[in-house]
Amino acid sequence: MSDTQQMQQPVNDLGYRSFTLGKFGFRRDEYFSHITWPGGSHTIAVDRYLRALVRDIAWSFFYGIVNFDEVFGTINHYGNVDVFAGLFSDGYRKSERYYVENFETPKVRAVFEAICDDWTSEGFDPFAAPEETGSAFGPKHGSNKAAISRKRLTASRMVGMKGDIPLRTDQAGNPVNRHFLDVPQDQPEVYPEPGFEDEVHAFNFFGYLSRSEVTWNPSIVSVVKNSLLCPTTEEFMLPVIHGNDRVEWFIQLSDEIHWDVQDRESGRPRARVIMKAGDVSAMPANIRHQGYSPKRSLLLVWENNDAGLPELYAKGKLKPYPVEF
Ligand code: PHB
Ligand code: FE
Repeated sequence: MSDTQQMQQPVNDLGYRSFTLGKFGFRRDEYFSHITWPGGSHTIAVDRYLRALVRDIAWSFFYGIVNFDEVFGTINHYGNVDVFAGLFSDGYRKSERYYVENFETPKVRAVFEAICDDWTSEGFDPFAAPEETGSAFGPKHGSNKAAISRKRLTASRMVGMKGDIPLRTDQAGNPVNRHFLDVPQDQPEVYPEPGFEDEVHAFNFFGYLSRSEVTWNPSIVSVVKNSLLCPTTEEFMLPVIHGNDRVEWFIQLSDEIHWDVQDRESGRPRARVIMKAGDVSAMPANIRHQGYSPKRSLLLVWENNDAGLPELYAKGKLKPYPVEF
C-alpha cells in the first residue's frame, strides 16, 4: 500500500475520509475538524482549520511556527516538520500533556494535501475573504481543487520583468477587488538606455496588489539576495497564529490591521498593535502574532530569508528585536 492509501480510512456517513499522520488522527464532521493523539484530542471549527491548513501547505510550513489555533500546529525545521498539540499552550505544558511528532517534510505535505483536498467542498475557497466565498460546513459535495492548489507566487527578480511573474490585468482574469476600486491603475513610463531593457523596470505596485483575489497569502514580488518583499491583501483575520523564528517587518500600505502579539511559547499577551496606513513595525523573533483586518487592506511583509537566522536567534547571538530606541 502507498503512504496515501495507508493514511486514508473509509468514508464516513457525511462523505468525508479520516486520516492518520504518525499517531495523529484527523476526522471531520459537518462543522468541526477533530484531531486526536495519544492521550488527547482537540476540536477546531472546520472553516478555520481549512484556512490554516491550505496556507501551511502553500507556504511550505512558513518561517518557524504555524499555530492553527492555541493548541495545534507545525514547526518548520526546513527539511523536517514537528507536528504538535499543546506544545505552546501554558496548561498543556505545565501538566506535560503536550504531544509532538517529527516527520520528513514530504510526508506531512502529502497527508495535509490529502486532507485539504478531501475536506474542501465545491464553493468553499479557503484563501478567499469570508464575504467572497461559500460555506465550509455540511456534508461533502464536490471539490475545489483549483482553489486549494494555488501555488505561492514567488518572483525570481521582480514581478513584470522578462521571464518573471506577469503583471495582473482584467484580460488575465485578475479584476480589481471590490474594496480597491479607487486605486489608480496607470503604469509608470520607463525609458531604459539601449541594452538595459531587461534590467530597468517599474510597475504600479498598489495597482498590482489591488487585483489580488486571495487574502492573508503573501506573494514575493521582489527579491534582492535574502531580502524578500512579500505584500498581501488582508480581510477578516489571519487564519494562523504565526510564531516567528526571525524578525519580520510590516508596512501598512492602506486601511488598518489590529495585531495581537503574544509570547511565542506560552501565548501570554505581550502587545496590541493597531497599524494604520503608513505605519511600520518590526515583529520580534520571539513572539507569535495574529492580525485582524476589519476591511480589505494592503500590507507589505518584509522577510529576511537568510537560513542561518533561526539558529542565531535561538542561541541568543542576535537580540530578538532589530532596533533599540
Ligand atoms: C505573518 O505571519 O507574518 C503573516 C502571514 C500572512 C500574512 C501576513 C502576515 O498575510
Ligand atoms: Fe509573521
